This record gives sequence, C-alpha cells and structure tokens, in this order.
Amino acid sequence: MQLKEFKHQPVLAKESPDALVTQPDGVYIDGTFGRGGHSRLILEKLSSKGRLIAFDRDPQAVEAAREIADERFSIIHAPFAQMKEELAKIGVERVDGVFLDIGVSSPQIDDPERGFSFRFDGPLDMRMDTSSGQTAAEWIAKADVGEMTRVFKEYGEEKFATKAARAIAAARDAKPIETTKQLADIIAQALPRNKKDLGQHPATRIFQAIRIQVNQELTQLREALEAAGSLLNPEGVLAVISFHSLEDRIVKRFFEAAHNPASKLDPRLPLLPEQMPAPLFERPKRVLPSKEECEENPRTRSSVLRFAVRTEAPWPEGGV
Ligand SMILES: C[S@@+](CC[C@H](N)C(=O)[O-])C[C@H]1O[C@@H](n2cnc3c(N)ncnc32)[C@H](O)[C@@H]1O
Repeated sequence: MQLKEFKHQPVLAKESPDALVTQPDGVYIDGTFGRGGHSRLILEKLSSKGRLIAFDRDPQAVEAAREIADERFSIIHAPFAQMKEELAKIGVERVDGVFLDIGVSSPQIDDPERGFSFRFDGPLDMRMDTSSGQTAAEWIAKADVGEMTRVFKEYGEEKFATKAARAIAAARDAKPIETTKQLADIIAQALPRNKKDLGQHPATRIFQAIRIQVNQELTQLREALEAAGSLLNPEGVLAVISFHSLEDRIVKRFFEAAHNPASKLDPRLPLLPEQMPAPLFERPKRVLPSKEECEENPRTRSSVLRFAVRTEAPWPEGGV
C-alpha cells in the first residue's frame, strides 16, 4: 500500500498522556492510533517494562504504525469496540489505561480519495475501514427518506433533515450519487442558507451525519467505554478526547453514571447505604485546550478531554 504524506498533529498533547499514564510499567491501550501522535507521547512516558497496544480500523493508519520500531509497541487492525475480544486473543485480560481520540484524522479528511470532505471532489466513500462495510454512496443509494431523515437529525442535528433527504432521494432517481461534489451540490441547492451559519457549508451537518452512520461511530464509542471499564485495573485511567457535542455527551453521561451508579436506581427502592452500588470510576475531570494550543492548532478548538480513574468495584455484567 502506498502511504500518502498526510500529517496529524495530536491535540491536548501534554494533558492526555499526563492524565493517562500513572504507572510507567503498565499496559496501555491507544484505541485510535491515527498517525501515532499520542502513541509516541505515551511511549515516552512508559518504562522499558511498559507496553502500548494500539488499535485503528483504518488500514492506512495500521500501515503507518509500522514506522514505530519499539518492542514495547504493537498495533491491531480492528474497531476499538472489539478491544476486549482482540486483547483476549493475545492473552491480555487487564490494562492500566485506555486512551481514545475519537473521530477522523487529518490524513483521512485531507485525502480526496477517502470521500470525507465536501471541500474536495472524490468518491463518496467515508469508511474509516476501507477494507470492509458499506460506503456512503452505497448507503445513500439504498436508504429510504425516513431513514435518511433520522440520520441527518440524530447525527447531524440538521434542522432541514427531511428536506435534504427528499432532495437526495429525488436526485438519485435521476442519477446515482457517487461523488462528494455531487452530494454537496444537491444539498447546497436544496437547503436554505442558515443566517447564523453563513461561514459553514450547507452540507457540513449532512456529511457529518453520513460519516457517523457509515462508521457506526456512536455505537462504537458506547461499546468501547464499556469494554474499557471492564478491562481497567483499579487505579487505571480511561481518557477520551471528543470533538463534538454528540460524542462528548456520551462520554460525560458514561462517567456520570459510572461515578454515581446509584443515580440510575429508583429512589423509592428501600436500599440501605451498604446496598448502594459502589462507584466504578472516581475523580472524573474535564480538560479543554489552552488558548495557546487553539491558536497553534485550530483543529484543537472544539476538543474536550474527559478522564476518570477506575475503582476496585467489579464491573457490572449488564454494563453502566
Ligand atoms: C482523531 S484520529 C487519532 C489521531 C491520533 N491520536 C494521532 O495523534 O495521530 C482518529 C483515528 O481513530 C480511528 N478510529 C476512529 N474510530 C475508530 C474505531 N471505532 N475503531 C478503531 N479506530 C477508529 C480513525 O481511523 C483515525 O485514524
């Protein structure tokens, strides 16, 4: 595979490894290798006994990981939601930290061939894992108006979801929608310009929604948080960087529920204090990038790091 020269600058580059690595001899997971910005920083914090196992579902990212010649490091080509099963295959049952830097990487967005961006014309693909699954073009060709509307509303928070879905359905009857430009033009013609978002292309929200749908990003995130919780040793850290409110909400609610599992119980239940479920995570924290980092790397502006420390309480079978 020919690797193209696209760079990815890690965000919250000091804060995330500092929060994550508390035991330099420990076993750590980077669920989103990308181009290894964070992986390299995590390795710097580990001792010679430490170990870092990275995941990425993108074959190009996995190929890029070959550049890291460090015997403490290995990479697995799999979705991070499957980390528990994948780690079991190599005999790893417990870890000391799990890091996720959710979303797409700059190399994915900036390569027209990947079809993530309406800024370039390219095939309408949008799969992070180019070796499997349905492309955006395939999804658009088959989804009915109801399904498209739901996806645009839920994952794009698009006000004109129905209008966009109808326009796409009408256009594809005339000609299959196969490129990013075709799709962006259909949306731009169909949707009124939102006065508040004049700086934003009208297709922004729809592209985001289709990407989340094609890659099942929110399901992946929910499952990965559960998997991480069940894998972490006491005092182990789960640290997650997200870039938009949909993801951040999932992470925030997960940590809230795991920090205070009693909040999910019916308050009318006659439970004694010692019968209350114990916290699964403690010391939840939220970190935003500094003004300096935002100026230096504009991509960092919407990022949020949340992390918390696993307690000794056993992970519940049904999850959080
Ligand atoms: C924002 S980038 C990570 C960048 C990385 N931290 C760095 O510094 O280079 C996100 C990466 O995670 C990968 N990814 C996203 N969702 C994934 C999932 N569910 N399973 C595995 N990898 C995923 C993407 O393919 C992408 O390479």
